[in-house]
Amino acid sequence: MDINIIDLTVHGDSSGKLVAIEEFKDVPFDVKRVYYIYDTESGVIRGKHAHKKLKQVLLCVHGKCTIRLDNGEERKEIQLDDPKRGIMIEGMIWREMLDFSNDAVLVVLASEPYDESDYIRDYDTFLTSIRGK
Ligand code: TYD
Repeated sequence: MDINIIDLTVHGDSSGKLVAIEEFKDVPFDVKRVYYIYDTESGVIRGKHAHKKLKQVLLCVHGKCTIRLDNGEERKEIQLDDPKRGIMIEGMIWREMLDFSNDAVLVVLASEPYDESDYIRDYDTFLTSIRGK
């Protein structure tokens, strides 16, 4: 399974650093929603779902966390700890977010508004639906 890394451009000088994200330029979709996750207790595993259609870019803009990706055949983990480096998730991928540092802020850019019907929250249903394809 290839992990799609998004390396963002940093506009940095002596006054600090700035990263800008534009749809279809820095991320390959229309950004319809942005949310962020913070104050996650250590030991907590978030996510535990797949999406039928949604595309997302995940960026840990402060602190660090681990993203576990599972396509039904293979699992990979990637640590996000750099505010200029994100990962893109699209297609049927089971994802879990874990090992959050106390100061972690995970920003998610999403291609669609929130839609509970796009979620698959049961792992066996996820496996059945990818194997049926
Ligand atoms: P949830 O999907 O369980 O978060 P995670 O996958 O990170 O564990 O969402 C937590 C709550 O927030 C749930 O009640 C749904 C709500 N929510 C929204 O209202 N809008 C959103 O865009 C998202 C992602 C979640």
